[in-house]
Amino acid sequence: MITKYSMGQPYSTEAVVKDIPTVGWESFPFAHKTENEQFIFSFTMAGDDIIYGLGEASRGINKRGWIYQSYCTDEPTHLETKESLYAAHNFLIFRNHGIFIDFPARIRWDIGFTRSDTTTITVEGTDFDIYVIEGDKPIDIVRAFRKIIGQSYIPPFWAFGYQQSRWSYPDEAAVNRVVDGYDHAGIPLDCVYLDLDLMERYKDFTVSSERFPNFQSFVADKRAHGIHLIPIIDAAIKQEDGYDVYEEGKANGYFCKNADGTDFEGGVWPGNSCFPDFMRRDVREWFGTQYKKLTDLGIDGFWNDMNEPALFYSVSSLQNALNYAADLRGQNLELESYFRLKDTFYKLSNSPDDYASIYHNIDGRLINHQRIHNIYGANMTKAASEYFEKEFGKEKILIFSRSSYIGSHRTSGIWFGDNSSWWAHILLCLKMLPSANMCGFLYCGADIGGFGDNVTRDLLLRFLALGVFTPLMRNHSCLNTRDQECFSFENPEDFRDVVQVRYRLIPYLYKTFRKASEENDMIFRPLSFDYPEDTIARECETQLMLGDECMIAPVYEQNAGGRYVYLPEDMTFVKLSGENVSKQPLSKGIHYVDIALNEVPLFIKKGKTIPLCKPAMRTSLLDTETLEEI
Ligand code: GLC
Repeated sequence: MITKYSMGQPYSTEAVVKDIPTVGWESFPFAHKTENEQFIFSFTMAGDDIIYGLGEASRGINKRGWIYQSYCTDEPTHLETKESLYAAHNFLIFRNHGIFIDFPARIRWDIGFTRSDTTTITVEGTDFDIYVIEGDKPIDIVRAFRKIIGQSYIPPFWAFGYQQSRWSYPDEAAVNRVVDGYDHAGIPLDCVYLDLDLMERYKDFTVSSERFPNFQSFVADKRAHGIHLIPIIDAAIKQEDGYDVYEEGKANGYFCKNADGTDFEGGVWPGNSCFPDFMRRDVREWFGTQYKKLTDLGIDGFWNDMNEPALFYSVSSLQNALNYAADLRGQNLELESYFRLKDTFYKLSNSPDDYASIYHNIDGRLINHQRIHNIYGANMTKAASEYFEKEFGKEKILIFSRSSYIGSHRTSGIWFGDNSSWWAHILLCLKMLPSANMCGFLYCGADIGGFGDNVTRDLLLRFLALGVFTPLMRNHSCLNTRDQECFSFENPEDFRDVVQVRYRLIPYLYKTFRKASEENDMIFRPLSFDYPEDTIARECETQLMLGDECMIAPVYEQNAGGRYVYLPEDMTFVKLSGENVSKQPLSKGIHYVDIALNEVPLFIKKGKTIPLCKPAMRTSLLDTETLEEI
């Protein structure tokens, strides 16, 4: 049963696609109050209650014991102490209740942080809808919720292939080296990403004529070779006279405003920039058609970035900081004044004051950005996907976004942003997968190998062995980190063995993905969903159930030749490596299993089988008809 409660005049986020009548607050099942323009409600948790949800967020599958904030943030360091990442996925499951708060501004979720037995949720505003979903089991609650938010995005089939990225392949020759490197090592590959260096001075939808002089034929060449090139698109538009996107946006009043109606100016990669007002349909239509500049050149996939929106500084706050520093010139700074100076610059990025100075023009009314902050990026991606669907139809263009809100799951995938080359981030990815699935995000994955810092060979192999199962399987790394392409390491045949497993599994993974999208189901589930009475399964956060047949359990520690795994029932332990398959029946219980660096571990439930095809260098070369059951 789903009950909708409404307060004030909620902004229509379009998260929910089903009409549900609202009922009065007297039946709201949680203690609540409205205070200082905030709505606060709470519930008590029993000692062993598991709290699921919040999609893309830090920490565990069980969200207990921390305070989270729904506030889309350009967060480059994914430490466990972070309260916000790039998305706002306001869905929580508590015992036999699901709670979805449809509200595009900040929400605080204190889940046993202040008091270990209490969850207190603070909605920072008084215009919102809350949906309460009752169900016997968490999976029933998820399915009921997913039904009202609509079917999840399905990307083109080739987007299930292995993808290589880096900030940034500087030119055509560098991209060729990547493709050749993979080809020579016999490692399958379907996509290469084009980060900032594709553009001319960080201007969206441009192609540097110096670095990519024959882009259209280059794209065609790569396509003929089975490779898709995927450019990045950022939210901010460089202020530059003569740059058509900027000129058009300015002339038509398409950019976000200051309170006085002038265009808001902030700094991101291109320096001073303007921010399209994606909250407006006409602006979304205009921005969407900009992608045509690249689809006309043969591009069929994009990643939308920096759309929280990331704001390195506002032009006015940077100026104030520079003036402050100039005033201090020549002075002997004491401790306090030194730190004040330092903070003045440090706090320039993503500053709440700057966000609060931005306005959107919604149906002729100026609305402060802070009121809709969490759906800005979602609307950027909606602009793109609405254009793609109109122009090319469904499942033709790959699109995924860094920032998202529930509802974005219908139009695009997501990636989990700037993680690091840390062992802990294998598990962070694993834990986000079921949480993202609960909120409808099926096409998702982390930067395999880690974005920040230098990866080690063994970390990349172990990360890939999890990435084999994530719908988005993309290796991506940051500027100034060591080469992270699989062929850059010694014995690249180990990487071939792992990536080939992905291609062997694609028929199974694709079918599982489609089914989950069509039936509002999850691909990845916590073990506790399937074995709620089993204490070890309930607490397990290093393994996941996959589809109806499997369990996955990646190795996540350095120098480990295997791991302990818990089998909640009898299963077959399968090791996949290239074309090799080894099988060992194991009984319910705890086992230590050996897993070499070139092996992908998988556990198949008794009485179930899964299909494997032969590996191929591209998804387009897969023979998905000739299958072997294991
Ligand atoms: C952001 C993105 C990252 C990208 C970089 C440069 O940090 O999250 O993936 O490589 O910007 O565009």
